[in-house]
Amino acid sequence: MGKTSVTSRLNLPGRLGWLLMETPGFLTLLYTLRTLRSQTTTTAAAAAGSGGQEPPSLPYQNQVLAALFVLHYTYRALLFPWLQPSMSPLHIIIFLSGVAFQLTNGLLLGAWLGAYGPTTPAQWAAHLAPWPTAQFAAGLALFYLGLAANYYHDDELREIRRRRLRQARGKGGKGQGQGVDKHYEIPQAGLFKVVLYPHYLVEWIEWVGFWMAAGWGCAPARCFVLNEVAAMLPRAVRGRQWYVEKFGEEKIRGRWAVIPGVW
Ligand SMILES: NC(=O)c1ccc[n+]([C@@H]2O[C@H](COP(=O)([O-])OP(=O)(O)OC[C@H]3O[C@@H](n4cnc5c(N)ncnc54)[C@H](OP(=O)(O)O)[C@@H]3O)[C@@H](O)[C@H]2O)c1
Repeated sequence: MGKTSVTSRLNLPGRLGWLLMETPGFLTLLYTLRTLRSQTTTTAAAAAGSGGQEPPSLPYQNQVLAALFVLHYTYRALLFPWLQPSMSPLHIIIFLSGVAFQLTNGLLLGAWLGAYGPTTPAQWAAHLAPWPTAQFAAGLALFYLGLAANYYHDDELREIRRRRLRQARGKGGKGQGQGVDKHYEIPQAGLFKVVLYPHYLVEWIEWVGFWMAAGWGCAPARCFVLNEVAAMLPRAVRGRQWYVEKFGEEKIRGRWAVIPGVW
């Protein structure tokens, strides 16, 4: 996909492929959370002989974390492909890997939030000890910072093609995508001055914030961060090489791939 995509009969259209690849994650999380919650509360009520009562709702922490996940994917799965001025085709192998990741990730996080992690206020207090409220709030702040910065840097990339589209229209071009597909420039705004993939870096920060709010012992949130880094770091390093080949070493000098001073 993207800069290094190749022509293939197994390519899917970029926008549709992206939407279908990213949507299963939050739907799986919501389904798993809801189903497990009702199953475990029904079993507990039956054991206590109090069947027929409404199950108690989950603590606010579980609900907020589920909402953050849905918030992120409302942007990533639904708005992102719609906002992009153009998107390169997506190879079916990338698509299937993405769907497999989304299903597994949604299942693990949904199961943790619905049943296997803390599900009472007392369990949350113990899980985030010694500063449960402070850690949860700091994690949330980091998450929002990362989310906003991710949107900002994604939008800088969009602006390059929007600008190009305006120029093409000014010269009598017509239609979305004309003269825009595969048009690349060196982005200049924000952290792009320092790294070529700041949108990746801040997305990692976003999910570290989620992990922090969920507690350092939350294995699914930790796996999520590790999986993101494992998938995106090689792509960023290869992407920097692509920038060097396209624009020349001179223009790229001083910009790291994704982590300043490291890669
Ligand atoms: N890739 C992953 O594994 C992954 C995983 C989790 C989250 N994400 C998040 O998803 C978002 C998109 O990721 P991505 O891997 O598609 O990022 P990307 O390769 O940087 O591409 C993002 C979009 O910007 C365009 N673009 C990239 N560089 C450009 C340049 N120099 N000039 C003009 N347009 C440019 C791309 O067009 P083309 O498609 O035509 O190249 C694409 O539409 C990011 O916010 C990322 O954090 C990605």
